[in-house]
Amino acid sequence: MKGLLEGERDRTANLANAAALIHGSFDFWWTGFYLAAGRELVLGPFQGPVACTRIPYGKGVCGTAWARRETVVVPDVEAFPGHIACSSASRSEIVVPLVRDGEVLGVLDIDSRDLAAFDAEDAAGLEEIAALLVQHI
Ligand code: SME
Repeated sequence: MKGLLEGERDRTANLANAAALIHGSFDFWWTGFYLAAGRELVLGPFQGPVACTRIPYGKGVCGTAWARRETVVVPDVEAFPGHIACSSASRSEIVVPLVRDGEVLGVLDIDSRDLAAFDAEDAAGLEEIAALLVQHI
């Protein structure tokens, strides 16, 4: 990821390649970004099937991670109150906020077809990636 981002500061280019690298390295269902715009998150670069375009602050897993400013791991999306189902194939999810100088720029959202696909190790690794990404967007 470091090598991929090095020397490039364009937000779209870097988020698009980051989504492709993560998605292509694992058997995830959906990997992508939502970017903060006012009180909403708007769909950004992603890999996978078409997805919902706008998520209000505090809504769904993505809006919750934004409001809490922390990673949210959801082992079973059906058990998460307010989960926004873009696809019925998604069974578990992780959302990592992209925080720069205390401001949430957006979130990295990953969905899996398997239950409980994400754990603390994934959270730690993806948070490292998020920290790297905010320096390049
Ligand atoms: N499930 C997310 C919505 C985005 S899709 O998973 C791509 C949520 O509850 O915020």
